[in-house]
Amino acid sequence: MVVFTVWFVFLLHLTYTEFCYGKQGKESMQPGCKLEGLHPLLIVTYKNITISVDKITVPHAERIIVRCRELGRYKLIGDPLLHCRNGVWNGTLPSCIPTTAISNYTEDVPPTILFGLPAGSASIEPSGALSVFPGSILHLECLFSRKLGNPEWTWTSTFRQHLTGWAIAASERDTKYRLSIYYAKTQDSGVYTCSTPRGLTNSIRVHVVDVHCPTLAPPQPPLIGKTEGARMGQSAHFECPPGYRLEGVPSMTCQYNGKWSAEVPQCEAIICPPIEPTNPKLQLLEHNSSFGGRVSFTCMWGSRLSGSQSIQCDGDGVWSDTVPKCIEITCPPPVVPRSGRIIEHVNTSSKKKGKSRNKVGSLVRFACLPGHQLLGEASIICTENGTWSHQPPVCDVRCQYPGDPPHGQIAPLKFWYKPGDNIQVTCSPGYVTPLEPVKKPTCRENGMWSAPPPPCRSYKDV
Ligand SMILES: *[C@@H]1O[C@H](CO)[C@@H](O)[C@H](O)[C@H]1NC(C)=O
Ligand SMILES: *[C@@H]1O[C@H](CO)[C@@H](O)[C@H](O)[C@H]1NC(C)=O
Ligand SMILES: *[C@@H]1O[C@H](CO)[C@@H](O)[C@H](O)[C@H]1NC(C)=O
Ligand SMILES: *[C@@H]1O[C@H](CO)[C@@H](O)[C@H](O)[C@H]1NC(C)=O
Ligand SMILES: *[C@@H]1O[C@H](CO)[C@@H](O)[C@H](O)[C@H]1NC(C)=O
Repeated sequence: MVVFTVWFVFLLHLTYTEFCYGKQGKESMQPGCKLEGLHPLLIVTYKNITISVDKITVPHAERIIVRCRELGRYKLIGDPLLHCRNGVWNGTLPSCIPTTAISNYTEDVPPTILFGLPAGSASIEPSGALSVFPGSILHLECLFSRKLGNPEWTWTSTFRQHLTGWAIAASERDTKYRLSIYYAKTQDSGVYTCSTPRGLTNSIRVHVVDVHCPTLAPPQPPLIGKTEGARMGQSAHFECPPGYRLEGVPSMTCQYNGKWSAEVPQCEAIICPPIEPTNPKLQLLEHNSSFGGRVSFTCMWGSRLSGSQSIQCDGDGVWSDTVPKCIEITCPPPVVPRSGRIIEHVNTSSKKKGKSRNKVGSLVRFACLPGHQLLGEASIICTENGTWSHQPPVCDVRCQYPGDPPHGQIAPLKFWYKPGDNIQVTCSPGYVTPLEPVKKPTCRENGMWSAPPPPCRSYKDV
């Protein structure tokens, strides 16, 4: 029962205070400290993690470490260590003031201290101290205008003397007053201070420590990695071969605390999103969504492709082009011949907006008015080219074969006669055509005979 009560109270507090309380015993009742409106030049570290959020609450009894961005270019004024006790910090937040590199070498600001490592490696601690790996060569550069006098280097370590003096290179000798630590040893740890002739100072804390990070396992293919080593300040760089995307950060550094600054990244195979054809007539001939893969399309019979026939999965996991469309192939409305008409129109398409469309396979049959002969094809079909299989026919004026008269034959014998053509009748033996009229029937311009074929009569009747 007691256990239950304690948990209940604990949970209640966590809820009400948004996890701002410590987690042990009586101290869980103590309020946390707020941290907000942080100056952009300040970097705050809490539990070895750099805080980037603007507004946090730090639990009671915890501490934060504050430093200035751009180590050496700003000087921290105040105590970098702050403890939270009962909702209040044990001091005010420190501030950062600019140094000579920022002020353009004026005499009224502290000198800038830059560092360089011709050999070895180093890492910056949350407190702003410089962690240096043993054996490194460290140059500390005090930036000051040489014409204003000589600055002075002092250090707290009593282990040994160091070379100091103006840099030798022409580009540096008027501004850089250097202190060199050769083959750094643990005993070289201490505070290194540069003082200007006016007595303005800036310091850098050097911490020579033998810190190693866990040795990195050889990168698992396809990940490609290059590792400088696992000593503090050394880095490892990673990349992925084409077709893969790097998930994570491309490089990581061994930090002052023996931890890598990030996790080893991974290579994720690039895959393009699946293709879902929205058009029922569109067919996929090939479908490969891997990097470099292709998708090719075709349209079902009666429709044609509009767009790319094939698209490729590119390096950014995006298709090289949009999915094409299938457009229904149609033929233009058929031309009705003069003196002709359409007697059949098999239109295989549905009517759209009241207009009938001639899909592939549509059939049109023509016929001519009486007194006309159909020349050409009587039926045409809409082809896959969107054109009709043939030109529409034409209807020419013609006289039709009028039929043989009884006991006679018409000559010449044809189905159709052109305007101006004549016919005559040859009678069977024993029959004759009347002597009058002698005019032969002529095909007229309207497709009608000028006269009916003359009849054949028996001799007996003549
Ligand atoms: C922070 O790092 C130091 C080493 O510099 C280590 O001793 C300490 O345990 C770390 N603290 C946390 C909370 O990880
Ligand atoms: C806060 O307290 C810690 C020790 O508890 C001390 O090291 C630090 O200097 C104090 N900070 C200020 C600003 O007084
Ligand atoms: C810096 O100072 C030098 C000489 O005093 C001057 O020529 C230069 O213009 C200054 N630069 C800036 C950015 O103020
Ligand atoms: C997909 O395309 C890629 C790149 O061209 C190729 O390496 C892979 O073998 C293809 N996959 C299949 C299943 O065809
Ligand atoms: C379509 O046109 C092409 C080229 O003009 C031709 O070779 C082909 O025979 C035509 N197809 C049909 C069905 O008319």
